[in-house]
Amino acid sequence: MATKMTTKTHQRERSRAWYERAQQSLIEGVNSPSRGAAVYSAGPVVLERGRGSRVWDLDGNEYIDFMMSFGALIQGHAHPTIVEVVSRTMAEGSHFAAATPAEADAAERFLRMVPSAEAVRFTNSGTEATMLGLRLARAHTGRTKFLKFEGHYHGWYDPYCLNGHSHPAEQLGPRENPTRFPDSEGIPKTVFDEVVLAPWNDLSTLESILRRQGRELAAVITEPIMSNMGCILPRDGYLQKVCDLAHQFGALFILDELVTGFRYAPGGCQQYYGLKPDLSTFGKALGAGFPVGALAGPRAILDRLRWGGNMVLHYGTFNGHRLTMRAIAANLDLLAANEGAVYKQIYEIGDAAIAGLRDIFRRRRMGAIVQGFGPMFQIYFTGRDAVGGNIDAAIDGINDYRDYCRYVDSAKYSRFIHGLLDRGIYMTPSNGLHWIISTAHTMQDVETLLAAVDEVCAEMP
Ligand SMILES: Cc1ncc(COP(=O)(O)O)c(C=O)c1O
Repeated sequence: MATKMTTKTHQRERSRAWYERAQQSLIEGVNSPSRGAAVYSAGPVVLERGRGSRVWDLDGNEYIDFMMSFGALIQGHAHPTIVEVVSRTMAEGSHFAAATPAEADAAERFLRMVPSAEAVRFTNSGTEATMLGLRLARAHTGRTKFLKFEGHYHGWYDPYCLNGHSHPAEQLGPRENPTRFPDSEGIPKTVFDEVVLAPWNDLSTLESILRRQGRELAAVITEPIMSNMGCILPRDGYLQKVCDLAHQFGALFILDELVTGFRYAPGGCQQYYGLKPDLSTFGKALGAGFPVGALAGPRAILDRLRWGGNMVLHYGTFNGHRLTMRAIAANLDLLAANEGAVYKQIYEIGDAAIAGLRDIFRRRRMGAIVQGFGPMFQIYFTGRDAVGGNIDAAIDGINDYRDYCRYVDSAKYSRFIHGLLDRGIYMTPSNGLHWIISTAHTMQDVETLLAAVDEVCAEMP
């Protein structure tokens, strides 16, 4: 693929001034630590506007956006159909917190696309969906403990906040009994007594942990593709085996498709890998930029949400928000059109970006690998070349949280991304996230990306 020269032009005076101002009223000038100085070394790029695959900052700099709102913007920015539907809906009244046709319109489309969904309950965020999933699993099984995997993120609900961040490899403890790192202060220690922790992508360790504690578990929850340590794929047949093992011990299998849902296939990873989870959770791409989460599964479990003596409680003023429901229906129609033809386009563009990046790293003999396929991927500077000088040693890949903690040079990745930000490529410098291809990206965007990457690599030690 031909590469085009890019130039380093980005000045961000107004972003800096605005960030100073925002810190007077907001903690770290933002509303989530992943957006502030903890990640962006000179302070965040303050964005003002987006269209298609592009965003513009306060200084008027244009960027191709590969972060896409942490994957929420599967249709890119300001997709004309979504803009039209939302504007029309808004003019009729935004939300009634009452029964509306909009909810069922969205739900019917959801059920047509997600294989395991006999019913769906909409929430306002992914965190709410996984929180509700756990409550339902506990009610359904009459058990309270659950198993989560190291390095998986399921939102910021108390019991999920364990080993979600990376730690020095030598502190991780034995695989059979991992060291437990709470991700937050303010969570009672007893909350974590209910959590069983296991390494991912490792069936024999999982089996032995389950032999000890499996009968106490309400659920085993997993991301199908690890998306919060970059992009780590499951080994062949792994997810089905986890599902089988959970069932063997009487626990539900919860597939957290917050990132992968509506992205890897119209029916998410459960369709892609042929899985039948008991419960699955969605958000991000479902809402095409609107705040939403969803919990789906069979009637036999979801019916526990019905009002009555033994019900599982789930309230929310903004549940089934009318604007969001209309955006979802329009979004799912776009994704399902022509038998999901748009997925072919996303895969082609994503795979071209991945191949081009690998090519640059190979040509420049850099110890970097690119993991993922199609709609989502991540780059890891492995650091192994820095130690051993042998870049082939890195080809093995990053297969779990422990590999990530041991081998990934996230400081180098951050420098790499800051170089790209200066060249009109928008991406978070956090190595734990991932690159996203939306329906708005083009091959031209990939060419521009690769030219910028080549320039940045030329300057990297
Ligand atoms: C796998 C996974 N589950 C749950 C969540 C929580 O979703 P939300 O940020 O919408 O609360 C996220 C968010 O990044 C996620 O990646």
